[in-house]
Amino acid sequence: MAKIFFYVILIQLLFFLQNSKAQAQFSLNKGSSLKVERYDQPFLISEDKTFYCGFYSVGKNAFTFSIWISTNSINTVVWTANRDSPVNGYGSKVLFRRDGNLVIRDVNGSVVWSTSTNSLDASTISLLNTGNLVINNTKGNSVWQSFGSPTDTLLPYQPLTKGKKVISAMAKGEVSSGYYSLYFDSDNVLRLIYDGPVISSIYWPNPGINAFQNGRTTYNSSRLAVLDETGLFISSDGFTVSASDLGGSNIRRLTLDSDGNLRMYSLNKSHGSWDVSWEALPKPCDVHGLCGQNGICQYLPSQGITCSCLPGYEMNNRNNWNEGCKPKFTYSCNATKSHFVEFPQVDFYGFDLSYSSKQISFDDCVKLCLQNCTCIGFGYRLTGTGVCYPKNALFNGFNSTNFPGRFYLRVPIDSNDLILNSHDNLDCTNVTPHMVVGSPSMFGTSQNNTKWSYIFIFIAVFGALETILLVIGWWYLLRDREVPKSMEEGYKMILSQFRQFTYRELKEATGNFKEEIGRDDGEGRMRSIAKEVRRVLEGGDESVIASIVDVGLQGQFNKEQLVTMLSVATFCLEEERNKRPTMDEVVKNLIAFDETDDSS
Ligand SMILES: *[C@@H]1O[C@H](CO)[C@@H](O)[C@H](O)[C@H]1NC(C)=O
Ligand SMILES: *[C@@H]1O[C@H](CO)[C@@H](O)[C@H](O)[C@H]1NC(C)=O
Ligand SMILES: *[C@@H]1O[C@H](CO)[C@@H](O)[C@H](O)[C@H]1NC(C)=O
Ligand SMILES: *[C@@H]1O[C@H](CO)[C@@H](O)[C@H](O)[C@H]1NC(C)=O
Ligand SMILES: *[C@@H]1O[C@H](CO)[C@@H](O)[C@H](O)[C@H]1NC(C)=O
Ligand SMILES: *[C@@H]1O[C@H](CO)[C@@H](O)[C@H](O)[C@H]1NC(C)=O
Ligand SMILES: *[C@@H]1O[C@H](CO)[C@@H](O)[C@H](O)[C@H]1NC(C)=O
Repeated sequence: MAKIFFYVILIQLLFFLQNSKAQAQFSLNKGSSLKVERYDQPFLISEDKTFYCGFYSVGKNAFTFSIWISTNSINTVVWTANRDSPVNGYGSKVLFRRDGNLVIRDVNGSVVWSTSTNSLDASTISLLNTGNLVINNTKGNSVWQSFGSPTDTLLPYQPLTKGKKVISAMAKGEVSSGYYSLYFDSDNVLRLIYDGPVISSIYWPNPGINAFQNGRTTYNSSRLAVLDETGLFISSDGFTVSASDLGGSNIRRLTLDSDGNLRMYSLNKSHGSWDVSWEALPKPCDVHGLCGQNGICQYLPSQGITCSCLPGYEMNNRNNWNEGCKPKFTYSCNATKSHFVEFPQVDFYGFDLSYSSKQISFDDCVKLCLQNCTCIGFGYRLTGTGVCYPKNALFNGFNSTNFPGRFYLRVPIDSNDLILNSHDNLDCTNVTPHMVVGSPSMFGTSQNNTKWSYIFIFIAVFGALETILLVIGWWYLLRDREVPKSMEEGYKMILSQFRQFTYRELKEATGNFKEEIGRDDGEGRMRSIAKEVRRVLEGGDESVIASIVDVGLQGQFNKEQLVTMLSVATFCLEEERNKRPTMDEVVKNLIAFDETDDSS
């Protein structure tokens, strides 16, 4: 009979431990940590299970500490701590240290990122249902939050404020910093800028007209922009936009995608997909810097964004459009040796040699460019008699059917064939505009079988389940997490594990402890167990000790091991702090115990 109970309980115990693995908590105390090898197990999960936080694989053997939303096994990262310094996939760790600092430690021990929350009385870290990772002090006030340092995404109620930037990822599916940012400019206007290796260029709102013409104001210096859960995005510069599916309580995000477009997404729960409910630039090629110097962006709904080089040019780096294109000819300064090749519907934004809204004839525009060695081409727009835009560099190029101008490239006469017969511009790379950051499911299979076998051995040897669970709880936690430095903390760690399983069934199965034990919850219950066990140990009565042990074992147990385990367990629960053993003593005892067990 006792054996049956024993197996029932064993199964329950396994379920409990299994669940405690899968059901990460939404809040942790100091001393908690997670090894990168266990990236399949989140560090924290928001209470409503929308957000996960933990190690995120960003490449072969490279991990970041991120927050993501998981739908249909696609993970969408909304925040990353160490986006530009991922850690090694072996031996790295995230630790909520005893000093209150949350740190990410690489395999060689170097701290790649930290919240610098030491000396702020930090006590708990939690992942709120808003997706905000917060560190609270002992008074329950937050001393640090992930909302304060956005990466490429703003979640509802995550404010964008003065001095903060939302920075795009380098490429679709990556988390590292790219070249596009959303920020409040020094004139209080919310803008999008391309800040690349060679140039920087504002592209939203329309840089060709001023803030007021764009419907913005420069007078409100509060510099605050917030999205709410209904899909309303309001900025202090007067910019307001609402999602196409305004209202309801969809899961939403505002992301500056790697193609430089700012998009609002809402989660389609039935399909697990992210639907675009607004985008800042309806014409994707209005984003600057997409195809690099001398590159041309073209958007086709069927293909998305494609980049190409101007005829007669070739890519600097076949794998990277940011590096643009270089001419296969040398410019000639001699006016008589140059002429112009016409490209309809094409223009390059910015880098005007001179600009005058004064209308001039096409011939005068040609002369203006030829006069100056630095002029390598010009745009000419047929508004009335025409406006001339001589250029000394060609960036932000685009080819758009409804563009009302033409571009004229200055080329040496003897290189004419090179331009006209060039097919290099067919060398295109796709940049898909609508993207969902994701990677294959992170929740693969990974089990630590050694641990299970240890647990089996422990259970097989001893029958007093409550006590064993207590010790295993310690042992389990000690091995998985950083060793808690105070008894108080270790004690809380155990309790947070024990609360999850049905005590009543256990109690009924063992029947060794009396009523007082069952009625209390958590801490009180554990203390009752400790008191009972202590009384037995102090009495030194062999028969009573034997009664704690499962009768199914028929007296076949190592009494010394049992006593060690029981005393450690009970002293850990000592109500008076100074009577509790130090952490060193506990660890020594448990290790000794562990070794005894291994050798038997
Ligand atoms: C650890 O490794 C990183 C990357 O390899 C390196 O930048 C850092 O200096 C190393 N730190 C130490 C303490 O060795
Ligand atoms: C931490 O602080 C935040 C903000 O003050 C609050 O919403 C949250 O409930 C607190 N969490 C805990 C575990 O105290
Ligand atoms: C400035 O912007 C803030 C935040 O959007 C808003 O609450 C405030 O009313 C604005 N002030 C004025 C004078 O418009
Ligand atoms: C979810 O997506 C499907 C397929 O695109 C669409 O039919 C459905 O209307 C969407 N649901 C919502 C709530 O938008
Ligand atoms: C430009 O080229 C023409 C024809 O080759 C030549 O006569 C003239 O001297 C050159 N001018 C300059 C400034 O080099
Ligand atoms: C060429 O243009 C640059 C920039 O506008 C100007 O500084 C320079 O004086 C011009 N050179 C000539 C010869 O016009
Ligand atoms: C611009 O697009 C048109 C239509 O697709 C194409 O015929 C033309 O060659 C393109 N121009 C350049 C310079 O890529």
